[in-house]
Amino acid sequence: MGANDTPASTFRYNEKPVYTTSNGAPIDNPEGWQRPGPMGPLLLQDFHLIDQLAHFDRERIPERVVHAKGAGAYGEFEVTHDIGDITSIDMFNKVGKKTNAVVRFSTVGGEKGSADSARDPRGFALKFYTDEGNWDWVYNNTPIFFLRDPTKFPLFIHTQKRNPQTNLKDATMFWDYLSTHQESIHQIMHLFSDRGTPYSYRHMNGYSGHTHKWTKPDGSFVYTQVHLKTDQGSKTFTNEEAGKLASENPDWHTQDLFEAIQKGEYPSWTVYVQILTPEQAENFRWNIFDLTKVWPQKEVPLRPLGKLTLNKNVENYFAEIEQLAFSPSHLVPGVEPSVDPVLQSRLFSYPDTHRHRLGVNYQQIPVNAPLRAFNPFQRDGAMAVNGNYGANPNYPSSYRQLTYKSVKPTVTHEKWSGAAVHELFQEVNDDDFVQAKGLWDVLGRTSGQQENFIGNVSGHLSGAHQDTRNRTYEMFSRVDAGLGSAIREQTEKLAK
Ligand code: NDP
Ligand code: HEM
Repeated sequence: MGANDTPASTFRYNEKPVYTTSNGAPIDNPEGWQRPGPMGPLLLQDFHLIDQLAHFDRERIPERVVHAKGAGAYGEFEVTHDIGDITSIDMFNKVGKKTNAVVRFSTVGGEKGSADSARDPRGFALKFYTDEGNWDWVYNNTPIFFLRDPTKFPLFIHTQKRNPQTNLKDATMFWDYLSTHQESIHQIMHLFSDRGTPYSYRHMNGYSGHTHKWTKPDGSFVYTQVHLKTDQGSKTFTNEEAGKLASENPDWHTQDLFEAIQKGEYPSWTVYVQILTPEQAENFRWNIFDLTKVWPQKEVPLRPLGKLTLNKNVENYFAEIEQLAFSPSHLVPGVEPSVDPVLQSRLFSYPDTHRHRLGVNYQQIPVNAPLRAFNPFQRDGAMAVNGNYGANPNYPSSYRQLTYKSVKPTVTHEKWSGAAVHELFQEVNDDDFVQAKGLWDVLGRTSGQQENFIGNVSGHLSGAHQDTRNRTYEMFSRVDAGLGSAIREQTEKLAK
């Protein structure tokens, strides 16, 4: 830190700080402006005014290209069960151990001012400030995703956002993509169930979706999937309720989260892990690197692990939530990404977008800063505000000893070889409809859920072109023949 050891933000509300220009010079009237005489023209020398305007002109930073609308809070993770038999991850190493965390929930497709209640998956991103570095869980509220080929992500997102000509949301674009990329069907079943419109961020689950590896120092590892189940109970809006709220209170989820924490009603989630050994994974019915598939819970039970509680609101939304930078590549010793190609691509994409959105030193922003990082070989760059490692050498110098801790990557099981190919993960086949049908049956367990699903799809699909509608009916018929015809019937009525 420089000469000023009392940063502006540390003034308390009961103190009365002297108002100054941005360079710290006291000034009498924040609304006054300089001119010669009572009616004279504005003087360029008025640094206070010019600086104020110039700063205002630059108040906005790029919004997130996806997940632009969100809300967040601080909390803690507590280990409730011993899982030392499967992993050495420091954060889990003792029952009762607590780790501070920050969460950001979000919708995906809408812009920063869009309605919280929109039908959309929800982001469920967590940053844990562990003793061995920041560990980010960049999850969604659905256990699967629309695609398993990373190349499709920008294409898919374009179709869920705005038409390049009309700048309108476009039902034809939306369903044209989904009905021609039918590996999406499982996620479509989640999106158009009432869980596609959660009542609030507090009332939804979070899922890793991807498979990771949790390792031990002896080189052994297990494949994992993480689930965070809401202790508030899963609660949803109907399509009508969500639509009404979009105009009446588009910020409802943001408000609900803030007010609950302010009242001391701290939301919590029970955290579970599903585990497959490498041997089990090899013989598993499903490809564990296919992001469109779950691990059925009857076959791979949920093992309880800990509890996440949110207990503190932020002081400043922009500083602490907008500037948050999560990445699936922010990992800690004991965790490794699997070869899931979507996950592998995400490892690149997030730090890349952060360098664009927040700058190369995004990890120095206080909310992103790890408890202790020491990497003096990364130096300079815009906004190097943490002292820039002072006089420390910027190369591995024989005059400055560092401690290098041994963290070995796990190479015992996975060995890949073969000629380079350029192709899809896998062509769509009947298997892609099995778990979608499983969810259709789950919806059938609660009265009214299947009817709502049909209504939710029909209302949206009726805005699409006829040939896109026809292809979409065929897609739903592959889930269940009755579902396809019910959607056709309702949609065609609405389209008329
Ligand atoms: P199970 O019967 O063991 O689990 C069903 C799951 O469905 C539960 O996790 C439950 O979550 C969830 N669920 C209940 N109602 C809904 C709903 N309206 N919309 C979305 N999810 C709901 O079955 P399987 O594990 O064999 O999975 C069957 C289907 O359930 C899958 O095809 C998948 O789509 C879906 N599912 C599976 C999950 C998994 O990881 N295995 C996770 C979530 C959904 P809760 O306990 O919170 O109510
Ligand atoms: C946000 C890319 C798939 C969850 C983002 C952002 C990008 C991105 C660029 C904006 C980040 C920022 O500006 O801070 C991608 C790519 C994907 C992909 C390229 C696939 C190839 C997924 C999947 C999930 C997911 C599968 C969930 C399992 C999230 C979440 C956020 C996010 C939760 C918001 C993080 C926050 O709150 O700041 N994604 N994404 N994404 N993504 Fe993805």
